[in-house]
Amino acid sequence: MNQNDMKKAAALEALKYVQKNAVLGVGTGSTIGYFIDALAEVKECVPGVVSSSEATTRRLKTLGIPVLDLNDVGHFDVYVDGADEINDSMQMIKGGGGALTREKIAAACANTFVCVVDRTKQVNMLGTFPLPVEVIPMAVSYVADELRKIGGNPRLRSVYTTDNGNMILDVHGLKILDPTGMEELINNIPGVVTVGLFARRGADILIVGDEDGVKIQRSATVWVQQDDSRR
Ligand code: A5P
Repeated sequence: MNQNDMKKAAALEALKYVQKNAVLGVGTGSTIGYFIDALAEVKECVPGVVSSSEATTRRLKTLGIPVLDLNDVGHFDVYVDGADEINDSMQMIKGGGGALTREKIAAACANTFVCVVDRTKQVNMLGTFPLPVEVIPMAVSYVADELRKIGGNPRLRSVYTTDNGNMILDVHGLKILDPTGMEELINNIPGVVTVGLFARRGADILIVGDEDGVKIQRSATVWVQQDDSRR
C-alpha cells in the first residue's frame, strides 16, 4: 500500500460514521477528497454537508452533494477531516491546505470529530510539520516577529490567499511540548485569525490507514470546547 492507498482506506472507513438523515461536516485535503468521492455514492442518505473550504464546496457541488450554510445548521453530529500531524492525545496540526480557520469553526460545531489520516501523520510530538497560522494581511510582519520570540521560524506562504482573504505564515522549528498552551498563546497575538493547532478541541475518533488496513482509536478526552450534554 502506498500513502494514497492508506489515505483512501482511512477515508472509506469514515463512511461508517455518516449518520442517515443527519447533516455532516466535511474537511479539506487529499484524504477528504477520497471521502467526498465515496460520499457521492450514498448522497441520498444525507440532507446536506457543511463545507470547510471553497475547494471542498466545489468538489461537493460537482458531485451533486448539497452544501449547507453553517449559520442555518448550527451544531451537527459528525465532522470528518484529515490532519497534517496527530499525536497520541489526538491533538493535531492542520492547515497544510490553508483551510484551518473554517476547519476549526466546523470542528467546534460538531459533536464528533472523525480524523482520517495515513500512518505517516502520527507523531509523538507536534511541530515537525510547519505550523500554519492565518494572519490578517496588515499584521504579517508583526505576527512574524512575535512568532520568532517564541522560538519559531515563520515563513510567508508565497502566492497564497486564504478563502477568507488572509495570509498564511508557516512556522518552522517549533517543538510543541504544550499544544494547548501554544494554541492559546498564538491565538492571542493581535492579527492572528487562527493557529492550525487543534489542541483545545482535538479529534474524538481517529482512523489511521496503514499497510495492514485501518486502525481505529477513540479519544478519552472531553474537549474543552464541547458541551458534555451533547456527547
Ligand atoms: C487542510 O487545510 C488541512 O487541514 C488538511 O486536513 C490537512 O492538510 C491534511 O491534508 P491531506 O489529507 O491532503 O494530507
